Amino acid sequence: MSSLNEVLAMAGLSEADIPRIVAALVLLVSLAIWKSIKPYHPPKNVPGPPCKPFVGVLHLIDKNWSTLPDFILSYDQKFGRSWAAPVPNIGLLGSCLFSLVTEENIKHVLKDEFANYEKGKNVREALGEFLGDGIFTADGPSWKHHRKVASQMFSRNLMRNGTTVALRQVKLLVEKLDKLTQPSSTSSTVDMQDMFFRMTIDVFASIAFGVELDSILSDKPHPFAVAFDEVQNLSQKRFRDPIWRWKRNLQVRSCEDEAQRGAKRRATNMIFKRLTDAERRIRKGCKTMKDFAMEVIHSKRREASNNESMGPDLLSRFLDTKNPFDGEAPGDNELRDIVMNFMIAGRDTTACALSWTLYELAKNPEVCVKVVEEIQQVCNGGDAAASRSRTFSDAEYSYENIGNLTYTHAVAMEVLRLHPSVPVDIKFAVKADKLPDGTFIPAGSSVLYSPYAMGRNEKIWGVDAKKFKPERFVDDGKISEPSQYKFTTFNAGYRLCLGKPLAMLEIKLALAMLLPRFKFSIANGHKGGYQSTLVLPMAPELMMTVTKR
Ligand code: HEM
Repeated sequence: MSSLNEVLAMAGLSEADIPRIVAALVLLVSLAIWKSIKPYHPPKNVPGPPCKPFVGVLHLIDKNWSTLPDFILSYDQKFGRSWAAPVPNIGLLGSCLFSLVTEENIKHVLKDEFANYEKGKNVREALGEFLGDGIFTADGPSWKHHRKVASQMFSRNLMRNGTTVALRQVKLLVEKLDKLTQPSSTSSTVDMQDMFFRMTIDVFASIAFGVELDSILSDKPHPFAVAFDEVQNLSQKRFRDPIWRWKRNLQVRSCEDEAQRGAKRRATNMIFKRLTDAERRIRKGCKTMKDFAMEVIHSKRREASNNESMGPDLLSRFLDTKNPFDGEAPGDNELRDIVMNFMIAGRDTTACALSWTLYELAKNPEVCVKVVEEIQQVCNGGDAAASRSRTFSDAEYSYENIGNLTYTHAVAMEVLRLHPSVPVDIKFAVKADKLPDGTFIPAGSSVLYSPYAMGRNEKIWGVDAKKFKPERFVDDGKISEPSQYKFTTFNAGYRLCLGKPLAMLEIKLALAMLLPRFKFSIANGHKGGYQSTLVLPMAPELMMTVTKR
């Protein structure tokens, strides 16, 4: 105490001044914290939702989280230009979130000033265990490297193998639906979204790893499929949880402590176990997936060294491919990340698109009739009976025939305009910048663009924007491809989706095999609700009445 008095005396103060000193310190620290987290309020000419002191629009984002795409749409449509949403700089969004609305702003961020807008370390961290060191989360030179390697995958061979694999899996789905609708006069109520998620995990595991997970017919899903779904769901939740890093670290430490110190620590750990349950499940799920991938990689390497003939799957194709940068063959971890990123990219996106397609076709029976007619004409030579038969010839569903399904292609595009599998995307500004419409973007801000909001915006697609009208993508009997900056479902610019042709092929092939054989109608009066996640699954599930034709 005496030394404190001495210090105070040296500063010309006494003990009576202590409360004032403490108050001043608290004020200084608070000011410093506030300065670092305070929301950025743009000038008056940039519109935005109503703000509250301190929190900006955080309360609105939180309140509308479950319908975020529609929340963005309402303001995109209201303002018709980029708008700003100030938020405290404590989470993932920087101190202000800007929504891009027009084609020219999208092009500016995704192409013209591409190097200035990156995914950023927050996204990399939140999805890191799941995506590994892969194309989805990488930026800069690392992304360039991944993009070049990934581009090699999307060859004609991949498309042909994709056709063979999908044909096999849709056959199994037909078999399953046949069983569910026995005897043939009955109809059955089936969750078709669940069916499509099962089918697509099998399709992409087969294309990527060359293994069969058998999810469609079996009652108990494969452990890899369970882990894949669980880790994906839980990782997404980190975006809403500002303390997820803390929970992850705590979880790791508490597990280690328990192992090291035994019973004494167990009681404390019990308290943390509940709090860190999701993080523990992510860890466990990632281990299951990694072990599975490694087992397959090692067995493929053994086959290769025994000069056995290798399959058409990506893993086998990549085993010996030289890396375009260093001329080396990829190591186990690199191989694992390449194929896992491929699966993550393709599986849920395609399953969501197929679910929404059945939903829209059930709501628009006249469109469904035209699709079935086209399929019968192009794939089955106009023979309606052949289109319903349970023998499937490869020639009917060849890569070329599927490519000739123009109207069906337009239907899939229209579904993806209204129900884009990735409804909202986000980037972070490295340096301060100005959008083409003059909006100033401070360094570190987040810029968001929503394919969902853009796809339904009347200022972009006209007054019938919300109407399901596949004809908007057909011109003179051919597909009329919209500008990628207007139709952003597959992203745009340098990070344009590499899998679009494969995705469209899988969707059309599934429709070609299912629609002539079964009638699907909505069973539970589904109103088109969705679950707001990184992808856009239907919510609740998609219960459909399935009847044999
Ligand atoms: C309907 C189906 C699909 C949709 C709507 C879709 C949409 C997208 C979107 C929006 C992105 C950009 C993500 C971002 O950077 O934030 C993307 C990237 C990507 N997609 Fe797709 N995708 C689909 C299917 C597929 C399939 C089947 C594959 C292949 C298996 C695939 C491979 C990729 C890859 C590799 C990227 C990363 C591109 C890069 O960052 O350079 N996608 N996709």
